[in-house]
Amino acid sequence: MNNITIAIDGFSSTGKSTLAKQLANHLGYVYVDTGAMYRAVAFFAMQNKLVAEDFLDKESLIKKLPEIKLRFQFNASMGFAEMFLNDVNVENEIRTIEVSRLVSKVAEISEVRAKLVEQQQAMGKNKGIVMDGRDIGTVVFPDAELKLFMTASAHTRAKRRFDELEEKGQNVSYEDVLQNVQERDYIDTHRDDSPLVKAHDAIEIDNSTLTKKEQFDLVLDLIHKFFA
Ligand code: DC
Repeated sequence: MNNITIAIDGFSSTGKSTLAKQLANHLGYVYVDTGAMYRAVAFFAMQNKLVAEDFLDKESLIKKLPEIKLRFQFNASMGFAEMFLNDVNVENEIRTIEVSRLVSKVAEISEVRAKLVEQQQAMGKNKGIVMDGRDIGTVVFPDAELKLFMTASAHTRAKRRFDELEEKGQNVSYEDVLQNVQERDYIDTHRDDSPLVKAHDAIEIDNSTLTKKEQFDLVLDLIHKFFA
């Protein structure tokens, strides 16, 4: 099978990254979690005191964009690539509820999107890549050979995110997580630049009732059917 580009888009906590990692490991492809890049920019804004309560100083963040250097580094013991912001590993810091609250606002900024999309396109120029996010099949790789659009009910997704955060020892309530999921859905689908939409040629997968294995097997079948 020739190397292809696999674009996985969808709402938050729909299991995109789990599926993307499984596929990348199985196919020997590179996996890129573009949400981590937006999260790292949000974390940079927090570190640089550009956030106060609900306010994000977008103008200052835009001016500081050239100071932001992002890269992924594979961690063999974890089995995936971790996010580095200006050469510091921020993989844990970018997963907090504080970053989750801010990140949709950061992702609305066109200058941020342009910078990250350029970097994502460079990472995928040789194909053999699985990339997940919100605009991969529509903006980053509109010519991707395989596009998947993942959905699941807001409650299913909030429960998944809540369990993940609890496992990491973060003290949050289920209601807070559900509210955050719903707010991000709204902002992600209503922003002017690259809103989350299903690409016309994407295959929709609702995984509310699928196990991780069932979902993986389903997509692998698709790949074998169309690209083997
Ligand atoms: O996938 P995630 O929850 O880690 O993404 C974090 C945020 O980044 C999400 O609220 C939307 C935004 N995002 C985006 O706008 N475009 C992408 N390609 C990836 C993420």
